[in-house]
Amino acid sequence: MDSRLTMSPLTGETNSIETNPTYRQGDRPMGRPHIEFIQSSEVESDVWQISGIAAKAQARTLSRDPGNGAATELVNFPAGWSAPTGYFSTDIEVFVLDGHLQIGSYRLKQHSYAYIPAGVCSGPWEAQKVTNALWMPSASPQFIAASEHAPGNRLERYIPSIDSSALPWAGTITPGFPPGAMRKTLRTDPDTGASTWLLGVLPQWRDYRAEIHPVIEEAYVVLGGLTSLCGTMTQGCYFWRPAHIPHGPYASATGALVFFRSDGSLRTDYILPE
Ligand SMILES: [Fe+2]
Repeated sequence: MDSRLTMSPLTGETNSIETNPTYRQGDRPMGRPHIEFIQSSEVESDVWQISGIAAKAQARTLSRDPGNGAATELVNFPAGWSAPTGYFSTDIEVFVLDGHLQIGSYRLKQHSYAYIPAGVCSGPWEAQKVTNALWMPSASPQFIAASEHAPGNRLERYIPSIDSSALPWAGTITPGFPPGAMRKTLRTDPDTGASTWLLGVLPQWRDYRAEIHPVIEEAYVVLGGLTSLCGTMTQGCYFWRPAHIPHGPYASATGALVFFRSDGSLRTDYILPE
């Protein structure tokens, strides 16, 4: 088992940790395959259709859990796409990249976000013009046309629309994160700590340390670019990284706006350069 020396930014303690752990059944589920770096425009587009929704769209599947169907898809809604009012059988996260999605009385414009818990009634849905969005169901979704919420829904967790451009920037949550970066939190799950956020970094931002997290980390570059030893992730690039995988160090020549998700509370251990 490989190991590396890491430093906790909280305590300053150094620890030897596994950098190539073996995933065992009963540990954190592997879920989706590790995707370190893809350009979404190079992913094959296919017909996107959800059980219960008649109108078709196109989608590129960026990652998918073969077990429960949880996925991150880049959906291209054609002008005029629509779906009736109803609810999904799974939680859904949506982040609009361009165009806009009308969901009932809420208009999700570019860089707007929504979290729709399973069973929460929303809609009707409409894309008045061509719209691209990240579509992130927590499992294979079914749509049920309805005018009322389903029993057992978690309406209190519904986030119908956040216009991220109107959110103020806040400091990053990782102690010792290099200056020149800020965060906009879109959602944090009160039970698991799973979070969805935007990270903004200034041009010429850089870190000199690689990092490791105890949680899954997923990201899509919305604007600009981030460079690591793997190359430069430009607009549209994506990764899905299991826990405990070392990555970075990162730098940005141009600055970047990056959409992130984690499946638990984010903690970062740094790998010091040799
Ligand atoms: Fe990371």
